[in-house]
Amino acid sequence: MNAPEKVPADPLPHVMKTYGRLPLALAYGRGCWVWDTNGKKYLDGLGGIAVNTLGHAHPKLVPALQDQIAKLIHSSNYYEVPLQEELAAKLCEISGLTNAFFCSTGLEANEAAIKIARKYGHDKGVERPEIVVYEKAFHGRSIATLSATGNTKVQAGFGPLVEGFPRVPLNDIGAIEQLAQTNPNIVAVFLEVIQGEGGINPATIDYLRAVRRLCDERGWLLMLDEVQCGLGRTGKWFAHQWAGIKPDVMPLAKGLGSGVPVGAIVCGPKAADVFGPGNHGTTFGGNPLAMRAGVETLRIMEEEGLLANAATVGAALKDGLARGFAGVKGVVEIRGQGLMLGIELERPCGDLLGRAAEAGLMLSVTADKVVRLVPPLILSADEAAQIVAILVPLIKTFLAEPAAAKKS
Ligand SMILES: Cc1ncc(COP(=O)(O)O)c(C=O)c1O
Repeated sequence: MNAPEKVPADPLPHVMKTYGRLPLALAYGRGCWVWDTNGKKYLDGLGGIAVNTLGHAHPKLVPALQDQIAKLIHSSNYYEVPLQEELAAKLCEISGLTNAFFCSTGLEANEAAIKIARKYGHDKGVERPEIVVYEKAFHGRSIATLSATGNTKVQAGFGPLVEGFPRVPLNDIGAIEQLAQTNPNIVAVFLEVIQGEGGINPATIDYLRAVRRLCDERGWLLMLDEVQCGLGRTGKWFAHQWAGIKPDVMPLAKGLGSGVPVGAIVCGPKAADVFGPGNHGTTFGGNPLAMRAGVETLRIMEEEGLLANAATVGAALKDGLARGFAGVKGVVEIRGQGLMLGIELERPCGDLLGRAAEAGLMLSVTADKVVRLVPPLILSADEAAQIVAILVPLIKTFLAEPAAAKKS
């Protein structure tokens, strides 16, 4: 008889089991590299899920944050916070929009956007305002944002969901025009310019322009969730700028504080005055530490030319992957822009997360079959080549194996 298999002790027995975690813990990082508690080194192709814009322990960010911590971490929104104005002004300058509100996470930014859209509708006399959302969208895990999310796995077990989110497929302007004909309650359209969790699915430039036009004709708000694709990741400050359009509401988070939690909505004139005093707020949002992180992140991005870096190194990475996977059966498509790339495989590939870590590379798998790379924007061409050198043989080996039997 075989000895019974030993079940490894749970290393985090008091932490709620909301994540399937790999059995490793990161201890420190430098640039695009991180080390675990056993001293093993990894190339960071994940950037804390599109968060660590400046990589780890950036030599300009660290002293700035140390300085801020020593001065003031948190004050409260009962008082003026000059750093909020500084970050808001910078976000308005780079977006062409007019005003910002600060929170701490992506879902909070999206929650604020949803509230703005509803109030915008009520202010116009629409009693039951509705917001057009998308198949495969991801907007967060609060009850409202998971209702807007187009993923039944994320929603399962949390009904009843929030109503008022008619859903359309991405890049199908006919579908949304049809809704416009039949639904008088629509007040806004809400989409990611490149869907992240949904599998790195870009909205086309033509589609974005057509939706902007439709919103203008109908008096709807265009709300672009740039939580994952924004802030330099695609090679422009914001992904929608490739289409030469502006949104009315733009939720941001992830990369804005380079690891310090910062969320924001940036609004144009149609939406900036919808909230008045008492309509919205949050305790932590806009605190001096978070604002300093945002101000310094944007300043360092400019100083170091990280938009251009994301564009050129991202293009080299995509090209290297395209060459590495040319003719490889089982690779469906390589998508995305700048340093937001997805490799769609023919079959589920969640296993690759652990295998890549074993091989010394951090990445993620999203939408079951899509290997996602969202590294720090400081990634060098040499590091991009190293990602290709690790990833291509890893995926080829994976695809050469028979597909694992489906668990029932
Ligand atoms: C596009 C998009 N919106 C919103 C969110 C939610 O952000 P957070 O996890 O900070 O709440 C995410 C997170 O992955 C995202 O990718």
